[in-house]
Amino acid sequence: MARIGIFGAGYVGLVTGTCFAELGHEVVVRDVVPEKIEALRSGQVPIYEPGLEELLERNRSRISFTTSVAEAIEDADLLYVAVGTPPTYSGDADLSAVWTVVDELPQVGGNPIVVMKSTVPVGTGEKVRAALDARGLSHVGYVSNPEFLAEGTALRDFMNPDRIVVGAFTPEHGDGVEELHAALGAPVLRCDVASAEMVKLAANAFLSTRISFINEIANVCELVGADVEAVAKGIGLDHRLGPHFLRAGIGFGGSCFPKDVSALKQLAGNSGYHFQLLSAVIEVNELQKRRVIAKLQKHLGRLRGKTIALLGLAFKANTADMREAPSLVIASRLIAEGAKVRAWDPVADASTLLQGVTFCDDVLDAVRDADAAVIVTEWPQLREQLPTEEVRAAMARPLLVDGRNLLDPAAARAAGFAYEGIGRSGSLFETLPETAEPELHL
Ligand code: UGA
Repeated sequence: MARIGIFGAGYVGLVTGTCFAELGHEVVVRDVVPEKIEALRSGQVPIYEPGLEELLERNRSRISFTTSVAEAIEDADLLYVAVGTPPTYSGDADLSAVWTVVDELPQVGGNPIVVMKSTVPVGTGEKVRAALDARGLSHVGYVSNPEFLAEGTALRDFMNPDRIVVGAFTPEHGDGVEELHAALGAPVLRCDVASAEMVKLAANAFLSTRISFINEIANVCELVGADVEAVAKGIGLDHRLGPHFLRAGIGFGGSCFPKDVSALKQLAGNSGYHFQLLSAVIEVNELQKRRVIAKLQKHLGRLRGKTIALLGLAFKANTADMREAPSLVIASRLIAEGAKVRAWDPVADASTLLQGVTFCDDVLDAVRDADAAVIVTEWPQLREQLPTEEVRAAMARPLLVDGRNLLDPAAARAAGFAYEGIGRSGSLFETLPETAEPELHL
């Protein structure tokens, strides 16, 4: 069993550290924020990830938390870098936290391997290798081992990975990282460092491309009377295409896809290549969020003075993460149009991000006197509460805009709602009873 130091007690660092401890390794997680380390020491997990707190508790004897670099690297076989790489204004990744970790490494003894888990531009490994060599740390190895954890299912993703990617300059260092994962029995891709870095960016960019593609298909479906749900099923049954990431909706968000698509586009641009496809993926995604506004206007006309309930705020279900959440754009657009916005989410707290929104404790409160309710996040509990008579009675007008195609349109209509999904047949021809003359059309 290995001794692993992990730099960064964020989402990736905590999940990775806890899962390595579960596999029997000794783990020390280091972060620069003392309050976070204090909380973790007392058993509180600062992020919302189903099952993480329990798994951490079960492995307490093999995982510890510290703010000290020395403690994290003491006798470590592997030093995982799992710090944030947020986007900069230029769309490039901000690597300052990565460089701080590398710069802080003292003259370590032994032969530890620095393992890059953070998502970094292609070429970062080469630069870190050169920096380590320049600082007399040539005996320290370097491996790229990108993560493929999705929020909400991160523990499952770690324990049952589709693949482990190990990019190394030296085969022995790659072996060290591969062995760590032996118990998982997953396919392992061994390659050079630059290719491993590219696998991560390309995988996220490709998944994002699938989403923008199906969203454009949905938009066309609305115009020609087809149903994107049936179309996605039909596409997905082709074994060459597969069923995943073909859920049409209000566009992708989160801390990864928007950032990584943009980072790959910038990386290509910085190298002299204009990545046209990714420009379209980004643009389609931006417009997709705004289509919700047009759908509301189609039924309600001007939105000034109208009350709109946003059901769900997190960028997807089973997370409290608000980073790049479509709800931020939708709420801001609604406020700019003069609408009153009421919002509910079971876990996400957007009170510091969204000014002028009334936050409600439950769905029924959020839809009270609303002219429309918009399903923004596919929280499963919304399937139980919608479409019900109770909700319909609470609303001023029974209009449901289902941004995630969560509900059965027939059931919603049968319950007396006007229903607008994304790319679902019938929505184009629907009108809301007692609604004002629409002023704008899709
Ligand atoms: C994503 C990837 O799925 C992970 O493999 C990767 O490790 C992670 O980014 C990362 O780079 O760290 P995550 O952002 O947590 O994970 O969430 P996803 O489940 O991939 O969803 C991303 C966005 O796409 C969400 O806004 C979701 O609602 C949207 N989405 C997803 C769709 O609109 N349609 C789909 O069919 C699937």
